[in-house]
Amino acid sequence: MADNGQVSMSRRGVIVGSAATAMAASAPLDAQMGKTTMPPDPAAMNVAMKVNGKPRTLSLDPRTTLLDTLREHLHLTGTKKGCDHGQCGACTVIVNGERINSCLSLALQHEGDSITTIEGLGTPEKLHPMQAAFVRHDGYQCGYCTPGQICSAVAVLDEIKRGIPSHVQADLTARPQASGAEMRERMSGNICRCGAYSNIADAMADVAGGKA
Ligand code: FES
Ligand code: FES
Repeated sequence: MADNGQVSMSRRGVIVGSAATAMAASAPLDAQMGKTTMPPDPAAMNVAMKVNGKPRTLSLDPRTTLLDTLREHLHLTGTKKGCDHGQCGACTVIVNGERINSCLSLALQHEGDSITTIEGLGTPEKLHPMQAAFVRHDGYQCGYCTPGQICSAVAVLDEIKRGIPSHVQADLTARPQASGAEMRERMSGNICRCGAYSNIADAMADVAGGKA
């Protein structure tokens, strides 16, 4: 490089200098990340909800979905993120007795709500009857969709019990039955890429006490 009397720097010198500057700039950030406490987010808002029977109060960025709250803030990773767009059902949880796609719902909308995730349905020692039926009927392969399928299946049987109609009922005023067609229709929002559908239907029929 030409020497103009004031600046004399080789190409290698520029690169080394830039790298040193970048490292110096990032050092405080790295140090911050090592700490357990981060500066408070001025935009954060509080929300209180009950998750699997336990009262939880969180301070969250208002844009945080219920799914991310469960997984990233409460470390309940049983609820899965599939599409993150309301199309696969992997993130299904039960809110006040009704199933929802938690990726489509902001946590702040759930002030005072009661949320049940797969972790709240049963434990490895004491499975929920639907979990036990999924095991008995091989209602999964990779298992990624399974928490959402099970939460949905539990809520579906409850919907039928409460007489909530579905699209496949010819008579919307008639009491719905836990038939194979009825359960398949109601489970249509839960996608299984492994195609374990017939075994999932068998597991549900088993719990409902009927045939798929
Ligand atoms: Fe929510 Fe797919 S992750 S519907
Ligand atoms: Fe693999 Fe359903 S068991 S996606």
